[in-house]
Amino acid sequence: METKSKVTPQLMMAVGTAVIGSFQFGYNTGVINAPQNIIESFYNETWSSRFSEPISRTTLTALWSLSVAIFSVGGMFGSFSVGLFVNRFGRRNSMLMANVLSFIAAAFMGFSKLASSFEMLITGRLIVGLYSGLSTGFVPIYVEEISPTGLRGALGTLHQLGVVIGILVAQIFGIESIMGNASLWPLLLGFTLLPAFLQCVLLPLCPESPRYLFINCNEESKACSILVKLRGTDEVNEDMQEMREESQQMMREKKVTIPELFRSPNYRQPIFVAIMLQLSQQLSGINAVFYYSTGIFERAGVSQPVYATIGTGVVNTAFTVVSLFLVERMGRRSLHLIGLMGMAVSAVFLTLAMALLDQHRWMSYVSTVAIFSFVAFFEIGPGPIPWFIVAELFSQGPRPAAIAVAGFSNWSANFLVGMSFQYVEQLCGPYVFIIFTVLLLGFYVFTYFKVPETKGRTFDEIAAGFCESASQRADKYSAPKEFNTLRGDDPDL
Ligand SMILES: *[C@@H]1O[C@H](CO)[C@@H](O)[C@H](O)[C@H]1NC(C)=O
Ligand SMILES: *[C@@H]1O[C@H](CO)[C@@H](O)[C@H](O)[C@H]1NC(C)=O
Repeated sequence: METKSKVTPQLMMAVGTAVIGSFQFGYNTGVINAPQNIIESFYNETWSSRFSEPISRTTLTALWSLSVAIFSVGGMFGSFSVGLFVNRFGRRNSMLMANVLSFIAAAFMGFSKLASSFEMLITGRLIVGLYSGLSTGFVPIYVEEISPTGLRGALGTLHQLGVVIGILVAQIFGIESIMGNASLWPLLLGFTLLPAFLQCVLLPLCPESPRYLFINCNEESKACSILVKLRGTDEVNEDMQEMREESQQMMREKKVTIPELFRSPNYRQPIFVAIMLQLSQQLSGINAVFYYSTGIFERAGVSQPVYATIGTGVVNTAFTVVSLFLVERMGRRSLHLIGLMGMAVSAVFLTLAMALLDQHRWMSYVSTVAIFSFVAFFEIGPGPIPWFIVAELFSQGPRPAAIAVAGFSNWSANFLVGMSFQYVEQLCGPYVFIIFTVLLLGFYVFTYFKVPETKGRTFDEIAAGFCESASQRADKYSAPKEFNTLRGDDPDL
């Protein structure tokens, strides 16, 4: 399939502004990692002065896990409302409106110390989670819809790049001498205000998604003129034609609701794949690392845990860039498989190193390398791949509902890991990552047998692949053959 793939300034500007939303999500994912001990002492002090007794270890663990994980509860509700917003207000305006939440959240978190209230911090985390849930839905939709087909994959990875840079910046700001100390941590949490402000200034200068204008609002000429600007050429017929076909198909297939996704045999298999891919991302244990790595490094005997945590951020960012180049060459499915297997192997090494730490001090280096490679493999596969496979599996009609469902599974699993990790770790000690290894291997098997390649294929082709595989299964079940047809003519695989 021949596609024009030119990166114009307008396209870069729009994508760059959108991914500020991804940055916000990453920042708030990473920000509570380094200052854990400091904010815990604030909880302890606040508790002592309120109830005149020091906080118990159990209460503190519970409160801290809640502060970490309530972010995902917000995210869950946010991601569920994505469809509601993008179809009513458009993609760009939805992103703009969501920033109200960032401002409120920044205020709650930034003033929690002044008000001696950990409830405020927890509320702020909930609200910024709500923002993040909306934003991680808006950004991929917008980026995908303004990008030319040939660049969808590469530009899509910029969302992930925004996320990892957000995590890295949060980790660096969390160094004690910057903002990770007893007096400045409120600023560390309140910082989220600045990107929100920046995005509010830039978004009005970005175009609305032409797909939204054309398909949802029926404004063909507006869509066309935006496309001309975004593509930097008058030759937008191919894009217009693709949207026209999709629009016609939508009239036939009409908007799909969430229950219909599960009822219709056309969608049941793709939505199942989408959910499993999201789970494979979250239950891989990556957020155990991003939320709690400083503590993990401490227990693994690393002498400078905060710097090791920053190391994970650097590796994370570097490998996101690597995957940016890989993703257009290698196909989503193979990258996901490589990533899952690499993470499983790294988790085994981490477990061994932590178990042998008492006999050999140098095992702390093995742990560090194992965590770095765990993160690296995450960014090769399970990090970037699931969300745009989800976007690529569904056409306009069912896509918002599908993304809502995928987001919901993503955040539920995220909450589960964030809330329970500290408890499970207290239970299993150094063997906690064995649980993730088992899960990772399970997802490897699932991906191998059930996930089709989506690279460079239109929605119709992918959908046809699913139908074909369904009828083939009815014919005579044969997994390898199924995958040959699903992979189609992709020479890279
Ligand atoms: C809370 O602070 C008190 C006094 O500073 C300290 O003795 C206690 O160990 C702290 N509790 C926890 C659970 O860290
Ligand atoms: C799921 O969460 C991850 C990170 O925790 C994020 O990068 C990704 O964009 C999320 N996907 C969706 C569909 O919300």
